[in-house]
Amino acid sequence: MTADATRDAATEPATLYDRVGGMSFFERLVDAFYDGVEADEVLAPLYPEAPDFSGARHRLTLFLGQYWGGPTTYMEERGHPRLRLRHFPFHVGPLERDHWLRHMAAAVESTCSDEHAEVAAELMQYFVPAAEHLRNDTGLPITSSTFHRS
Ligand code: HEM
Repeated sequence: MTADATRDAATEPATLYDRVGGMSFFERLVDAFYDGVEADEVLAPLYPEAPDFSGARHRLTLFLGQYWGGPTTYMEERGHPRLRLRHFPFHVGPLERDHWLRHMAAAVESTCSDEHAEVAAELMQYFVPAAEHLRNDTGLPITSSTFHRS
């Protein structure tokens, strides 16, 4: 190990993944989130493998673990996330975004104990703009997902 590597390990702040105790936190978060999604009349029909959500749970868990500094298993299984591209097949308008965020906010709330209060804020600061970024329907009469030239 070089002197530089030793210094980095000592001074670099722990990742959110490490602070919450690793992958089991993301498993609990995603389980709580999908319990809400599965019962959601707007979101559930969008999922290609419904009523089986085990694959979707697995992919989101690995993605979030990787995003917050954990192992890169998502990348190894799925390749580069390219999330906007991967969401194009699904109608993501303001309604879907808000339902998604409501279930995620509830999951964050129930999964983050008081000692992780700052983690809850960090997670939501990511999820809110990310969900808006994935929206592919402006809600306007002419919108990318429904407008076809004749
Ligand atoms: C912060 C926001 C979001 C994140 C980080 C996220 C993340 C992901 C990930 C990682 C996948 C699996 C991609 C793959 O490897 O194939 C996925 C799939 C999916 N997402 Fe999202 N998503 C977000 C928002 C939304 C919203 C707002 C909707 C609303 C419609 C949505 C609907 C779906 C659907 C239907 C799938 C397919 C399920 C599957 O088979 O994996 N997502 N999302």
